[in-house]
Amino acid sequence: MKFTAFLVGCGLAASARAIVEDAIDLFDFVVIGGGTCGLAVAARLSEIENISIAIIEAGNDERNNANVTDPSLFTVAFGTPIDWTYKSVAQPHLGNRQLDYHSGKAWGGSSAINGMTYIRADAVQIDAWERIGNKGWNWDNLYPYYKRIEQFSPPTPEQSAVGASYIEELHGENGPVHVGYPFFLTNSSLFDIAYKTWQKLGIPYNQDPNGGSLRGFSAWPQTLDREANIRSDSATAYFHPVQDRPNLKIFNGVARRITWDDEANTGSGSNLVARGVEFITNEGVKQIIHAKREVILSAGSLRSPAILELSGVGNPDILSKHGISTTRALSAVGENLQDQPQTSIFYQNSQVINGSAPYVAYADAWDIFGESTSNIAAATKEKLSEWAGIISKSNNNAVSPDSIQHVFQIQHELIFRQNVSVSGTLTTASGDQLTSVFWGLLPFSRGSVHISSEDPLEHPLIDPNFYLIDWDLRPMVELCKLARKYWSTEPAGALAVGELVPTLETVPDDATDEQWVDWLKLASISNMHPAGTLAMMPEELGGVVDHTLTVYGTRNVRVVDASVMPFQVGGHLTSTLYAITERTVDIIRDGIAVHASMDGGLPLEN
Ligand SMILES: Cc1cc2nc3c(=O)[nH]c(=O)nc-3n(C[C@H](O)[C@H](O)[C@H](O)COP(=O)(O)OP(=O)(O)OC[C@H]3O[C@@H](n4cnc5c(N)ncnc54)[C@H](O)[C@@H]3O)c2cc1C
Ligand SMILES: *[C@@H]1O[C@H](CO)[C@@H](O)[C@H](O)[C@H]1NC(C)=O
Ligand SMILES: *[C@@H]1O[C@H](CO)[C@@H](O)[C@H](O)[C@H]1NC(C)=O
Ligand SMILES: *[C@@H]1O[C@H](CO)[C@@H](O)[C@H](O)[C@H]1NC(C)=O
Ligand SMILES: *[C@@H]1O[C@H](CO)[C@@H](O)[C@H](O)[C@H]1NC(C)=O
Ligand SMILES: *[C@@H]1O[C@H](CO)[C@@H](O)[C@H](O)[C@H]1NC(C)=O
Repeated sequence: MKFTAFLVGCGLAASARAIVEDAIDLFDFVVIGGGTCGLAVAARLSEIENISIAIIEAGNDERNNANVTDPSLFTVAFGTPIDWTYKSVAQPHLGNRQLDYHSGKAWGGSSAINGMTYIRADAVQIDAWERIGNKGWNWDNLYPYYKRIEQFSPPTPEQSAVGASYIEELHGENGPVHVGYPFFLTNSSLFDIAYKTWQKLGIPYNQDPNGGSLRGFSAWPQTLDREANIRSDSATAYFHPVQDRPNLKIFNGVARRITWDDEANTGSGSNLVARGVEFITNEGVKQIIHAKREVILSAGSLRSPAILELSGVGNPDILSKHGISTTRALSAVGENLQDQPQTSIFYQNSQVINGSAPYVAYADAWDIFGESTSNIAAATKEKLSEWAGIISKSNNNAVSPDSIQHVFQIQHELIFRQNVSVSGTLTTASGDQLTSVFWGLLPFSRGSVHISSEDPLEHPLIDPNFYLIDWDLRPMVELCKLARKYWSTEPAGALAVGELVPTLETVPDDATDEQWVDWLKLASISNMHPAGTLAMMPEELGGVVDHTLTVYGTRNVRVVDASVMPFQVGGHLTSTLYAITERTVDIIRDGIAVHASMDGGLPLEN
């Protein structure tokens, strides 16, 4: 068989260069990145006994690190060795600040350091994935996978008394990821206060935001093993229980690039076959793991595009700048970055609150803009073509204005016709402070992630391009005003005895929108939801992977991580990412079954 001959060939090549390139093994699948999606995909594939899987992960096993496991220590891990501690490039619309991008460097990736919130997407957002050309990706198809991943702990009576609520049929019972409410919920009357205040402001109570409609106010569930009181990340949920399987092995190192079957096949090569992955160990030794079937890229939305570029797949203009020859031109690689701006307003509390109070209110355009919504909808629709031009110019036409405009039209419909939520506001209390943290869910701005160097250890250039489309400030300004209104509406108003941030000196009570904009530019940070940098879309729309998550122009490279989401979602990302992963594993399994019956198991000749 052709493939066997090829392997012998490269085995010889490897031994001839043994000093620098040690081909350490041959596996069916090589997964780059043992993070949220990477460990889930690897663990699921390892259920097939005669399939072998290697994972290459830069971080370590952190099961004994309290900064990971202890649910009350969120943010403590920031800046420690388990955080990549990325920085964005200077943001011109944020006073040239460079933003922090935390990202997990550990078994479990960002699921090991994140805020643990478990909230799914709005159903029509997933349906939009199919509408832009991704066959089979709709809410009805994804929904069983949302449930499959989940092991839900219904709230205790004490937790219900402080707002934890759910609809039983929406949740799974037998999945690997624990979902529940912390015992640490406050037992003060904060829930009643939040409930009554949001009601007055027109935001209804939502008994369970995980049924495909986010809008409303509720207590949010978390990826938490409540009984053990530990974080349920993808290492704990998926990997630890199966890590001793003989067909599953994790290697520690930084992946550099995918190596190709025919390195000479350059230019517009349409059927590239990945033969393995080159990585660098902690000791600085270069090694290669060969892949018999597939390479799965799961290094996250801030890193996977860089690995593709280092492998010669990307925008030729960018690759040539760093001396990398183009194996497959795919100019949308690294474009389409969608992240959410986040800001907080603080007050002094007249009381001291115990516990945590994770009460969130999702609002749609009508909630935010009120009577002006129809006019705003019409005015923004007129702007879509201009905005698409701005984005296309910012990426040197790597994605055409027409493609971006097409995608924007769907986004506009989601916002103004289908009424998806456009903002989240967390109203919470900690010690003697009250906070509203809020974030815009669906900005029109698009940024990028690209290599900064041919050196795989260098961090990529991360540019969320916040507020490039200045309209994205509009909902944020309304959210600032809404936060102030909330903390001056009874009963919440009775708690807030003084504004600590931004203060009335900085932004007066009767501030104009311009004054809020000035403050927002200094106060906005990332909501840490970067997505979309290797989008699942038709190639002509700026897509990088098809509906099987296979990279265009390759036969056996898939991407399974937050890079593939074509649109940002309203909920938090991990629930949707786990569901994407589980569905993709079924797609891979189907492929294996078909090919096993045809030729004994090599899915390469389609
Ligand atoms: C601070 C923070 C808070 C968040 N809060 C929430 C929340 O409350 N709820 C929620 O649902 N989502 C939250 N998110 C978002 C969510 O956690 C991420 O979107 C999700 O975990 C990303 O999964 P992923 O598989 O795409 O990437 P990751 O989980 O980041 O996995 C990528 C993996 O690849 C590894 N890697 C990267 N480059 C290389 C390389 N070259 N070689 C080898 N390995 C490599 C990394 O070490 C990492 O393990 C938060 C994110 C952050 C950072
Ligand atoms: C946990 O975080 C703290 C504070 O950032 C840090 O000092 C400590 O070293 C971390 N612990 C581990 C095991 O990394
Ligand atoms: C409520 O608070 C009291 C005292 O602050 C504490 O003893 C009790 O355990 C708390 N209850 C819950 C359910 O957290
Ligand atoms: C917070 O807890 C302390 C002791 O743990 C208790 O004295 C106090 O009353 C609690 N405050 C509220 C608002 O529940
Ligand atoms: C969206 O909300 C507006 C205002 O409440 C309402 O008139 C319209 O029917 C809603 N559309 C959908 C699809 O729910
Ligand atoms: C696994 O092995 C069995 C028996 O040898 C074979 O029938 C099956 O096709 C193999 N499956 C794969 C995926 O190779």
